[in-house]
Amino acid sequence: MGMKSPRRRESWGSRTGLILAMAGGAIGLGNFLRFPVQAAENGGGAFMIPYIIAFFLIGIPLMWIEWSIGRYGGARGHGTAPAIFSLFWKSPVSRLIGVLGLWIPLVVVIYYIYIESWTLGYSIHFLLGTSPELAAGANNPEEFLKPYSSFLGTYIGAGNGDLLSPSVMAYFAFIATLVINLIILLRGVSRGIEAFVKFALPALFIMAIILFIRVLTLDTPSGNAIEGLNFLWTPDFNALKNPGVWVAAAGQIFFTLSLGFGSMIVYSSYLRADQDITLNGLTSATINETAEVILGGSIAIPAAVAFFGIAGAVSIAQSGAFNLGFVSLPAIFASMPAGQFLGFLWFFLLFFAGLTSSLFLTQTIIAFFEDDFGISRTKSVLITMGIIGISVLMVVFVNQTLDEWDFWAGTIGIVFFGLMEVVIFMWVFGGEKAWAEINRDGTIRIPRFFYYILRYITPLFMLILLGWWGIELLPEELEKTGWTIWVARAYLVLLFIVLAILVFMADRRRKNKENES
Ligand code: PHE
Repeated sequence: MGMKSPRRRESWGSRTGLILAMAGGAIGLGNFLRFPVQAAENGGGAFMIPYIIAFFLIGIPLMWIEWSIGRYGGARGHGTAPAIFSLFWKSPVSRLIGVLGLWIPLVVVIYYIYIESWTLGYSIHFLLGTSPELAAGANNPEEFLKPYSSFLGTYIGAGNGDLLSPSVMAYFAFIATLVINLIILLRGVSRGIEAFVKFALPALFIMAIILFIRVLTLDTPSGNAIEGLNFLWTPDFNALKNPGVWVAAAGQIFFTLSLGFGSMIVYSSYLRADQDITLNGLTSATINETAEVILGGSIAIPAAVAFFGIAGAVSIAQSGAFNLGFVSLPAIFASMPAGQFLGFLWFFLLFFAGLTSSLFLTQTIIAFFEDDFGISRTKSVLITMGIIGISVLMVVFVNQTLDEWDFWAGTIGIVFFGLMEVVIFMWVFGGEKAWAEINRDGTIRIPRFFYYILRYITPLFMLILLGWWGIELLPEELEKTGWTIWVARAYLVLLFIVLAILVFMADRRRKNKENES
């Protein structure tokens, strides 16, 4: 077998660009929509302690592990999980597990990009002034929110049973979102994604800070913004006894840091072979947490508390994943001076947050075609976008698909895949070898006790999480009935089978090439 240098792969242009791209892949709708909902539902200050603990015991460790797996693979010509896992563990099982590292980001990006397009559609509505008028003289929250809740219903076309019929703006915004993603991705990792995030992330922070300052000065007869901050930042140690809060906090850490998807591996595969992981990984995780707890925590919750009191804000959070961000917040902004502009800013902020994340997810599939099939970037981008563009029809038209996919891929799937990453890297590849790989060329030295966290605590924590979900959520999930659920599940299986076949073909192709040379 002759020496064959791997096909030259792209790499990040600069360290700032790398960190911003990583942070952009982590900062997403989750920071501004999911975090406030999770925190409010789980008791505010009660949520924050498990959240911070989970950040140290799962978030940071898994971040280092995924960066190391990616850098290791990138230096050997591979960016995605199936091929890299088989470098650590030469068994078909590792490749099959690796398929999840393509399946999860593909499934998630299909619904994520659609929600992202709503934020663009809403931005345009606010910009054009075609967002709804508030009901005059509304004197209870329900009446006050009514125009915006029916607006959301009309936008996504809910209410006609199993099939959805979205508004014209929903179609338009969706196509525009696809095209914007496409244009950036066609330009490649450094000239496309990196160039875009260098502009988008600072812009996102500026928009969030403007909203943050505006919200903090809110004061109404029902409450004020500071009460909302107190709700979030007054620790409640009693809640530590409640396993549900721990599970929610750990789930949010996974989701917000984009861990367990397989995509962080791909972005890290564009690191240079001797580039630091220890400090860069920590920095981008910290930027995400700043965007989440400081900015994400200081807009939606304080605004809702100022208008509806703590009890009101909590019941809005409990009433559905999108009610805080797509119903309450726009209604609140619309009732304020310059409300149209503030509403636009809110949704455009969400759009940028979503866009940097959909680029991140989509690049995973693109890298698979480029690296494992040797297909050109342009073709890889077009094939990937084609798959997304067709599959999204399921989410757009079939009610409940979004929730169903989010459960299997975006909730259970990521924890399972995260656990497999730790097992394959820290146990099969080997604890000491993995530890050396993480620290290689590191700018800072990770304290040795993290070795034990990475090897024992992190996987144990995830195992408990999976067990808990198996007992608590799975029975409920399996009781669901109706044809839409089954179609949504069948499509998930189909996607998995197609990806597994492709992975198998890529493997054969690699073996044939090795034999030739
Ligand atoms: N971290 C993103 C968020 O907070 C979600 C996401 C996960 C996006 C994985 C891309 C990849 O919204």
